[in-house]
Amino acid sequence: MTSYTELGLVNTKKLFEKAVSGGYAIPAYNFNNMEQIQAIIQACVETKSPVILQVSSGARKYANQHILKNMAKGVVEYAHELGYDIPIVLHLDHGDSFELCKDCIETGFSSVMIDGSHLPYDENVALTRKVVDFAHSQKDYVTVEGELGVLAGVEDDVSSEHSHYTQPSEVIDFVSKTKVDSLAISIGTSHGRAKFKPEQCTRDANGILIPPELRFDILKEIEEKLPGFPIVLHGSSSVPIEYVHMIEKFGGKLTDSVGIPEEQLRKAAKSAVCKINIDSDGRLAMTAIIRKILVEKPEEFDPRKILGPARDELKKLYSHKNQNVLGSAGKA
Ligand code: G3H
Ligand code: 13P
Ligand code: ZN
Repeated sequence: MTSYTELGLVNTKKLFEKAVSGGYAIPAYNFNNMEQIQAIIQACVETKSPVILQVSSGARKYANQHILKNMAKGVVEYAHELGYDIPIVLHLDHGDSFELCKDCIETGFSSVMIDGSHLPYDENVALTRKVVDFAHSQKDYVTVEGELGVLAGVEDDVSSEHSHYTQPSEVIDFVSKTKVDSLAISIGTSHGRAKFKPEQCTRDANGILIPPELRFDILKEIEEKLPGFPIVLHGSSSVPIEYVHMIEKFGGKLTDSVGIPEEQLRKAAKSAVCKINIDSDGRLAMTAIIRKILVEKPEEFDPRKILGPARDELKKLYSHKNQNVLGSAGKA
C-alpha cells in the first residue's frame, strides 16, 4: 500500500479550483512508455504547466503497474532535476470497476476515473458513489472523476457506436448523489483519430474534413446547473492534418481522420472545462516521426535514434498545447 504523497504526487482538487477560476484547462496526457512520459514532463516543466499523467487499463496491462508507479515517482524527481517542480497527478483513465480503482489507489494513484457511463443511470450512481467513498476516506484524499453521457467510439474495452450527449437535467442529481470531484461530459467529442463520420462533416477547398461544432449549448446549460464545478472533456485530440499526411506519405493509411479544432478546445478551456484529455495526437506524432525515419534511414536500427526524435516531436506537440490551446502554461 503506497499513498501518492509518498511518490511526490498531488490530487486534482486545488488544480481544478485554480483552473476553473483562471479560465484554463489542465492537460491530461496518456502515457504507456518512457519516451511518452519523458516528453510530457519536459514540455510541462518548460512551459511551467501542471499535468495529469493518465494511465488506461490497457496501459496498465502493457506496462505493468509497478513500473508505471515508479515511472511516476521517477518523473517527480526528473522535473526537479530539470529545474522546476510542477504539480503532477497520476490518474486512472476510464476505470471500469471498483476493484481496479481500489487497486490503483492502493498503488499510489492520486486520482481515478470511474466510468459508469455505459450503465443504467442508477447503477452508474451506485458504482461511482462506492468508488468515491473509498477514495475520499483514504488518509490522503484521492479525487474521483465520474462520467455522464456516452462518447461515440471506443472507450478502452467498452465500445459504443453512438454518442449520447450528457443530459443537463441529470447533472445536479448525479453530482450530489455521488460526491464526485469532477464530471466528464459528452458534447460531441469522441476517442480516436476519426471523431466524426465524413457525412457529418463538410470539406474545405482542399478536401480536408471540417467537423460539426461541439455542443457548447449543452456545456453552457451544465455550467448553469453546476456553477464552478470542474468539467472534463475526453476525446479532445485535434488530429493535426500534418501528422496524418506525414504518416500517409511514409506508407500509413489513415482514411477520413478528423479531430476537434483547437479554437473549440480553447473556447472550452475558458469555461468550467478544467481537464482536457489527449492521447491520439501523441500517438500520431510518434508514428509520423517513426515512419519517416524508418523510410528515410533504412540503415538505422538503434531504437534510440528512432524513438529519440519521436520523443522530441511529442515534446513540441505538448508544449504547443499547453501554451496555445489549454492555457495551462505558466500556471504551475
Ligand atoms: O480513452 C482512451 C485512451 O485513449 C486510452 O486508450 O485504452 O488504447 O490505452 P487505450
Ligand atoms: P483522444 O483519443 O481524442 O486523444 O482522447 C483521449 C481520451 O479521452 C483519454 O481518456
Ligand atoms: Zn477518454
